[in-house]
Formats: sequence, C-alpha cells, structure tokens
Amino acid sequence: MQVLKTIAGLRCYLEQQRATGATVGLVPTMGALHDGHLSLIRRACQENAVVVVSIFVNPTQFGPGEDLARYPQDLDRDQRLCEQMGVDAVFAPTVSALYGSESPSPATLTQVVPPQEMMAVLCGPVRPGHFQGVATVVLKLLNLVQPHRAYFGRKDAQQLAILRRLVKDLNLAVTLVGCPIVRDQDGLALSSRNQYLTAVQRQQATALFHGLKAAKIQFQRGKCDRTALVAAVEQVLDATPDIEIDYVDLVHPYSLKPLETVDTVGLLAMAARLGKTRLIDNMLLRSRQPIIAIDGPAGAGKSTVARLVAKTLGLLYLDTGAMYRAITWQVLNLGLDPEDAVRVAELAAACTIRLASGDGNQPPQVWIDEVEVTDAIRSPDVTAQVSTIAAQPAVRQALLQQQQDYGLRGGVVMEGRDIGTHVFPDAEVKIFLTASVQERARRRQKDLLAQNQPDVSLTELEQTIQDRDRKDSTRAVAPLQQAADAVELITDGLTIPQVAENIVQVYRQTLQPAAGR
Ligand code: PAF
Repeated sequence: MQVLKTIAGLRCYLEQQRATGATVGLVPTMGALHDGHLSLIRRACQENAVVVVSIFVNPTQFGPGEDLARYPQDLDRDQRLCEQMGVDAVFAPTVSALYGSESPSPATLTQVVPPQEMMAVLCGPVRPGHFQGVATVVLKLLNLVQPHRAYFGRKDAQQLAILRRLVKDLNLAVTLVGCPIVRDQDGLALSSRNQYLTAVQRQQATALFHGLKAAKIQFQRGKCDRTALVAAVEQVLDATPDIEIDYVDLVHPYSLKPLETVDTVGLLAMAARLGKTRLIDNMLLRSRQPIIAIDGPAGAGKSTVARLVAKTLGLLYLDTGAMYRAITWQVLNLGLDPEDAVRVAELAAACTIRLASGDGNQPPQVWIDEVEVTDAIRSPDVTAQVSTIAAQPAVRQALLQQQQDYGLRGGVVMEGRDIGTHVFPDAEVKIFLTASVQERARRRQKDLLAQNQPDVSLTELEQTIQDRDRKDSTRAVAPLQQAADAVELITDGLTIPQVAENIVQVYRQTLQPAAGR
C-alpha cells in the first residue's frame, strides 16, 4: 500500500494506475476509522480496481467553537486498517500540502458555495461555513483523484445530498455511492465523535436511534405527517436525561426541502447534544415502491426475467433497449447521420422518452417527445442502427439522467450491466444474474435451433461467450460489474419463472420491516 503525503505524489501514482485502464474508487475520510468507514472501504474495494482512501481532518469545515483541536487522530492505526482492507493508496496530506497554506480561510481560499436552501436546514444554521468547507475539500479531492466512484456514508445525509448536487451542478464525471449507516449492537450510529462520550452518555446516546425507531413504527402505522413523526422522536429524546435536541426535522433526502408529509420518500434527521458532544442520526422513510436492479452477463436471461418480475410485482419494466431504439428512430426520422456524434448528442440531451408498462407479455409502450413509437422502434432500419447510437457516451449520459428520474418515483425494474453500480447505486434490491458459460452456451444453441439458424458447436459458443464476458467486463463504457451488495443468482438448471420467483422472494424479504431494529 502506498502512503502519499503530497499532491505531486498522488497525481504521479494515479497517472500510473490510470494508464492500465484501472477503475478508481475514492473514500474520503477524516480518519479515526471505525466500522462505518470500513464498510465504505470494503465496498470500494469490491467495486474498483484501485482504491484511494483520503485521511484529512479538514480545518475549513469546523466552526470557531467546534472540536477541530480535539478531533481524534491516529494515522498509524488508520493506515494499518487500510492495509488490512486491501486499500491501494492512502492520501494523508498536511493542511499546507493540500491547501498551500497553514491556515486556509474563506478570506484566502476559493470556495464552493452549495445552494443556500440546502444549507438553510438541518445542521446548516448551527454550523455556518461547514458545508462550504466540506464541498470545497471534496471537490479538491475529486479533482485530484478523478475517481470513477466516491463513497460516502448515509449518516451524513445532508452532506451526501449537498455533494450529489455539487456533482450534478458542476457536471462532475463521478458516481457518488451512498452507503448504509453502520450501527452498534444497541443501535447507536457509528461516529468518530462517539469516542468523546462518557460511559453514561454512551448509554443515553442510544435514545437517538430509539427516537427514530419510534417514528418508524408510527410511519408503518400510516402516520406520514411531519408533526407526528417529529413528535415521536422528540418524545423519546425528551424522556432521556442530559440530551439536548438541536433539531428534529423531515426533509426530502435529495433536495433537502422541508416536507409536511412523506408522499414518496422522506428523510427524518436529527442532531442532539450530550454534554459537549454533538451527534447526528437519520432514517429514510419510504412509501414509494422500491427499485430492482438486475445486472449480469449476456445470455443470463436478464430481460425476460426482468419483464416477468415487473409483471408479477406490478412494477414498470424500464426497458433501456427501447430507450436507445427511440433515440435511433428519432435520428432516422429527422434524417440525421447516426455516426454524427455531435448532432446525435444534442438530440439525445433535448428529447424526452416516456415508457409505460405493457401487460407484461407485450413490450412497454414508448413515446419520444410525445410521439408514440412502440411499434416503429422495432423496424429493421432502427435495428440496424441502434448499436451505433447506444455506443455513444453522450447518448448513454442523456439516458442515464432520464432513467434516474424514473428511479426517483420508484417502482421500476431495470436490467443491464451496471445498473446496481452506476444507474441506481442506491437501489433497494440488487440482483446479479448469472449462469455458467456451459449453461449459457446450451441456451444459445437451443435458441439458434429454434430460429432455424445454422448449428454451432457448444465449444465454439462457449469460446464466444467467454470472449464476450471479457469484453463486457473491461469495456470503457458501462462495463459489466457486480455491485458489492447484490444478491448473486446462479440460474443453471432453473427455468425463467423459477428465476423470477427467486427475485420476487428476495424483494419481499428486503421489504419486510427488520425485526427488532
Ligand atoms: O464525512 C467526512 O468525514 C468529511 O466531511 C469528508 C467528506 C471527508 C470531508 O472532509
């Protein structure tokens, strides 16, 4: 493992790594690593070839009376943990190595200012300047490392929402992956600041989680309004000695706009003080239907299975193939050259594609700019050009945005190669559907036979499938990747309905409210 202290060293190391085409994951931390950080690192190691962990206690995100001076630091221990986890490089600069000054301040530093309305809620009013400091240091780290993915804990939900907006508003080419909160046995969310608590305070601190749990019970009983949910948390906190509430609030998890009621999804967030220690915690309350992301290699039966799962559960099958076909149809309809990447990019960015569930047996209905093209997109002309269009990064980017917009409403099933890692990294249900090369070759041979195609030997088909797998996993655009939190389903010997049934089971288990906590 490399330990890098300077920007020059980091850049040089990453240039070498990138030259090999490796995917890079970044885990930004302030050190004092605990199991929460380790869960981010574990996931980053599973999803990227090269993982960089930054360890930097960023002074610009601490306010005047805050705990910068006593923030826990143990670089040797952190490095040992990173090494054990299989991290490739730790970036641990000094303040002057990162900022070019011992005491960076808003007066001397170019800063990123997140949207005022996102800073006007939750921790923003009590921590003026904090989110400017976070956004600035994270942008610096993203610029330096240029990772494919960066990993953040959902405990800092406001930070995550602000950083997602930073990536969107400044058009950064990185996927932010939000990872679940890791809790101690008794429910307390892990935090480097838990070290400040006395034994008694540590015990009292569990009230934060108990408060959220009480609200969740109300929510499951149908109480969706702000007043009831906030009151449920406050009641538990008020009953616990020595806890002082900073805020309890209900906001939208992405926009952070205050919510009066949870229509689709809400973030119930709080901060409370125990003595001098300020702790935060939150819980996502969802009334929208979940997203099912199905990834896997070619020939694993993904699209047939996804369609069937969507039909069984009454969800929308988000057919990306149909989306690429719709753009191809529009390109041909307007007489554009499918190879003219610039014109095609402009068209893709400006068009709106709408999908509606068919009856499960039929493909979904498709509109592009409100023209219905369900049948037209199946024409031989479109079929002949769709792969040229789908290979263009700008088209994929434009569709990614539209797919993610569907995701906000929930209730979709989507299949592909990077749905769980890239399109919907926060999907509630992730499946990696695969089958042995031999099984896929047998299936392909059967298909060819059914289509009266010339007979191809199993050995030849196996070779083709292996080559395709290698290409799919290493290609630059949307490579095949299994999300670390995906359930792997090996479909050898299973029929399509059996595979679909397995997925429906996983879905139902995921949705059951966890027993206890
Ligand atoms: O969440 C943290 O530990 C910090 O805010 C971060 C993202 C590393 C920026 O300093």
